[in-house]
Amino acid sequence: MQVAIVGSGYVGLVAAACLAEIGHTAVCIDNDAAKIAALERGDPPIHEEFLPVLLERHRGKTLHFTTSLEEGIRKSAIIFIAVPTPPSESGDADVSVVESVCQDIARRMNGFRLVVVKSTVPAGTNNWIRRVLQRNGVQAHCFDAASNPEFLREGTAVTDFLYPDRIVLGCDCGRAAEMLKQVYQPLLDGSYAASKNAIPAPDDALVPARLILTSSASAELIKQGSNAFLAMKISFINAVANICEATDADIEEVVDGIGSDQRIGRKFLKPGIGYGGSCFPKDLLAFRAVARDQGYDFRLLEEVKRINEEQRRLFLRKVRGALWTLKGKRLAVLGLAYKGGTDDIRESPAIGIVQALLREGCEIVAYDPAAMKRAKAEFQPCCSIRFTETAYEAAADADALLVLAEWEEFAALDLERLREQLKHPIVIDGRNVYSREQMRKAGFCYFSVGRPETQPDVRSAIQSSDAAA
Ligand code: UDX
Ligand code: UDX
Repeated sequence: MQVAIVGSGYVGLVAAACLAEIGHTAVCIDNDAAKIAALERGDPPIHEEFLPVLLERHRGKTLHFTTSLEEGIRKSAIIFIAVPTPPSESGDADVSVVESVCQDIARRMNGFRLVVVKSTVPAGTNNWIRRVLQRNGVQAHCFDAASNPEFLREGTAVTDFLYPDRIVLGCDCGRAAEMLKQVYQPLLDGSYAASKNAIPAPDDALVPARLILTSSASAELIKQGSNAFLAMKISFINAVANICEATDADIEEVVDGIGSDQRIGRKFLKPGIGYGGSCFPKDLLAFRAVARDQGYDFRLLEEVKRINEEQRRLFLRKVRGALWTLKGKRLAVLGLAYKGGTDDIRESPAIGIVQALLREGCEIVAYDPAAMKRAKAEFQPCCSIRFTETAYEAAADADALLVLAEWEEFAALDLERLREQLKHPIVIDGRNVYSREQMRKAGFCYFSVGRPETQPDVRSAIQSSDAAA
């Protein structure tokens, strides 16, 4: 099929590349000319596993890029909208870009079109899209609107799209449902997964994907409800982690016990410095605003947000607790992205923590495997922050090392080498990347989230320094 995607951000670009991968011809439209030029050259603007492979396979063949909406939608019967829906001052999702894209589509339509919203939007948006199209001269029989929320996570976006837990199609008429089922057929019948050059499926992939057909309003709520629930799980376990710290319990053991209940599950129960990113913080606010507009005060969501913000303050307190005073201390920071596996720093708790430490007079030496370029732009050149090429360089002569994003690369570091670099063997881990036993053996004073503080095993530290001598 011929499909168009408006907006080439994390959601739009990954969707376009994956739609080309499952056999469609996709055209990606964006009003950022520099981004489109880079994509035409084959330079992905984001760090995302398998995206370069898909661009290589399909760019210029069944995957095209343009800044012209007219050109993009001329031949495409299905138009996906994946433009930003940022929070307004009151927390509501600002859907004005979605509206203006629909007005533009209405002016340029030259035949039947199915307009499908992938952006996260408040319930009722599909009805507004219908009104906007009609107010701009499109007759009711010339279009359908549908909601097809996207659940992909940055870092695993391509495999999340190709091997989803479920595909939600919010359609208020049979024609839209049939067209969208056809789009996703290779995922719904398992033929993509069985194909020769398929991107490898994750171990826990559900093949074929489960189809959930709903009304458009339900689909919109499924997306907001899912993100709010996941954020709630994270805040819940962070609150439990804080109680663990006060009672000398170990959150890893507690999570093992709680998560083994199949009704609860282990996923999204990783404690840390809180969630960030372009979705959870904004979607939580937007969902609360939707509830408020309907006369329901969804205060639980406010508490989820409060706990999340509190995690950063508690982490700063932990750093102070480990180092006594902060002014003039040199701190190595590993991880600046809002989580491991991405170069995205939007609403990154790591950036917030680094900014607070700089205000306290610390000197920061930071390393992130992918987010350095974006992070550099976030700090004034006069700030006491330097960036290094490796984790070991960042650690050199630092008073302590802070882990702020859960990169696999950090888990695999040579801990002995790391300890030798540091001025003092102190690690404050905001993501529980290491086990306490591992850190004790490696000779670190180790502070983490929801677990008792660990002092170094003096014997093994002496043995290893004797061996080094
Ligand atoms: C965005 C929203 O933030 C999210 O709520 C929604 O679910 C999906 O779209 P993301 O893909 O991460 O998520 O956004 P972003 O990376 O900011 O990309 C949006 C793209 O739309 C950008 O490339 C931007 O240039 C483009 N855009 C924006 C347009 O093409 N036209 C516009 O008028 C505005
Ligand atoms: C999220 C949703 O998971 C996805 O379905 C939706 O489409 C977009 O929003 P994303 O923001 O890319 O995806 O990343 P995710 O892996 O969900 O992590 C979000 C934040 O929560 C990160 O800051 C991460 O570090 C944090 N997190 C996640 C935890 O602190 N603990 C966990 O157990 C899981």
